[in-house]
Amino acid sequence: MQTRTLGRDLQVSAVGLGCMGFSHAYGAPSEAGEAVRLLRRAVEMGYTFFDTAEVYGTPEDPHGNEALVAFSPMANGFLTGSYGKDSRFDPKTDYRAGMPQFAPDAIDQNRPLLDLLRRMAREKQATPAQISLAWMLCKKPWIVPIPGTRKEERMAENAGAAGIALTAGEVEALDTVGMSAVYGVKQN
Ligand SMILES: NC(=O)c1ccc[n+]([C@@H]2O[C@H](COP(=O)([O-])OP(=O)(O)OC[C@H]3O[C@@H](n4cnc5c(N)ncnc54)[C@H](OP(=O)(O)O)[C@@H]3O)[C@@H](O)[C@H]2O)c1
Repeated sequence: MQTRTLGRDLQVSAVGLGCMGFSHAYGAPSEAGEAVRLLRRAVEMGYTFFDTAEVYGTPEDPHGNEALVAFSPMANGFLTGSYGKDSRFDPKTDYRAGMPQFAPDAIDQNRPLLDLLRRMAREKQATPAQISLAWMLCKKPWIVPIPGTRKEERMAENAGAAGIALTAGEVEALDTVGMSAVYGVKQN
C-alpha cells in the first residue's frame, strides 16, 4: 500500500485500520484469537498503522505510534451504502442503534450523497466505501483515514482506496452534495 507521512517523519500506510470494533461499540466482541489473525492479515495486506486504545482491549499495537487522524471516516459505515432502513442494530451492544445517520429520516435526506457515491464507484470500478475514503485521501496528502472493520475482505477493499485518484472536480462534487454534513438529519 502507498504510504503517507504524518507529522515530520512518521511513515504510515495511506489507509490505517481502526481496531475499536474488535471489542467495542459494534456488537459482541471478537474472540481474541480471531482478532489476532485479522491483525496479522492486515499487516500482510500492507497496513502499518493501527488505531487502538486501551479501552478497546485489542492486542498490543504493533507500532506504538500516536497521531492525529480521521476517525470513523465512513460515518460508522453509513457511507459504504451497505446499511439502510432495514438494518437492525442491537441497542445493548451496538452504538449504531442510536446514531442519527441511521435513522430513517437521515437515510432519506442523505440519499443524494449515497447515490453520488454509488455512481462514482461504478465509473471507477470501485465501491462506495472506497470512494468515501478516497475523497478524504484526495483532500490533503497528510490525512490518513482509519476505517474500522472486522472482515478480511473489507480490510482489502478499504486498503484499495489508497490507489483511487479523484479529480478536484469529483472531490468538490462530493463536498457540494454534503459529504461533510452526513451526520443526522440536516437542518433546513
Ligand atoms: N478516538 C475516538 O473518539 C474514536 C471514536 C470512534 C472511532 N475511533 C477510531 O476510528 C476507527 C474507525 O471508526 P469506526 O469503526 O467507528 O467507523 P467507520 O470506520 O466509519 O465504520 C466502521 C463500520 O463500517 C463497517 N465497514 C467497514 N468497512 C466496510 C466496507 N468496506 N463495506 C461495508 N461496511 C464496512 C464496519 O463493519 P464490519 O466490522 O462488520 O465490517 C463497521 O461497522 C475505530 O476503529 C477507532 O479506531 C476513535
